[in-house]
Amino acid sequence: MIYKACLFDLDGVLVDTAIYHFQAWKNLGKQFAYELTEEQNEQLKGVSRVESLNKILNWANYSATQEEKNTWLIEKNEEYLRLISNMNPSEILPGVLDFLQQIKSLGYKIALGSASKNAEIILEKTGLMPWFDLIIDGNKVSKSKPDPEVFLKGAEGLGLQPEVCIVFEDAQAGVEAAKAGNMKAIGIGEPETLSLADKIIPNFIGVKAAELLQF
Ligand code: BG6
Ligand code: MG
Repeated sequence: MIYKACLFDLDGVLVDTAIYHFQAWKNLGKQFAYELTEEQNEQLKGVSRVESLNKILNWANYSATQEEKNTWLIEKNEEYLRLISNMNPSEILPGVLDFLQQIKSLGYKIALGSASKNAEIILEKTGLMPWFDLIIDGNKVSKSKPDPEVFLKGAEGLGLQPEVCIVFEDAQAGVEAAKAGNMKAIGIGEPETLSLADKIIPNFIGVKAAELLQF
């Protein structure tokens, strides 16, 4: 099979914004006296803002009104936007730029497939935007990972079949989405959380694209 495109998740793959999401959710939790743990935060990776709040309220055993939920979604995002406001190219994860350079030289198309509605702000602030041929983010999808919608829209937008696309993901929900979409999935992180991935690497440091993208 000749693979033609690489589809990247954003948070936790290209930049480490998980810490900012965690901080913003933790702060919000104070409103209903709930202390979010790091293990729980792991389960929020790749999950949309609305679904994340629902999960947290569930853990907290707090039944919120729709009005409370709407207010908290806004408050969480305002805090998150404050936290990412000073992001800069130094927050691109190690090895990412070199890897993007390699795949560009090898002729792969490059797309983003992220659940975040703040993806474009982050790509601008970190200077990653020019690398992308296409951006599919949380504003363009109606179904959250593990539904494959975000990646299928990526393939479609590039004019390619899903089978020639390779997805890079740090979240289990994202790996499941890629597999559900008939794509190859490369997990970034720990084998324990990414068992469904076709290949797993800890990060992009020293990765040789020509070797990694052989299946
Ligand atoms: C995903 C993150 O990329 O985007 C999740 O892994 C986050 O933690 C989701 O909740 C939605 O992000 P945003 O920026 O639209 O609140
Ligand atoms: Mg992610």
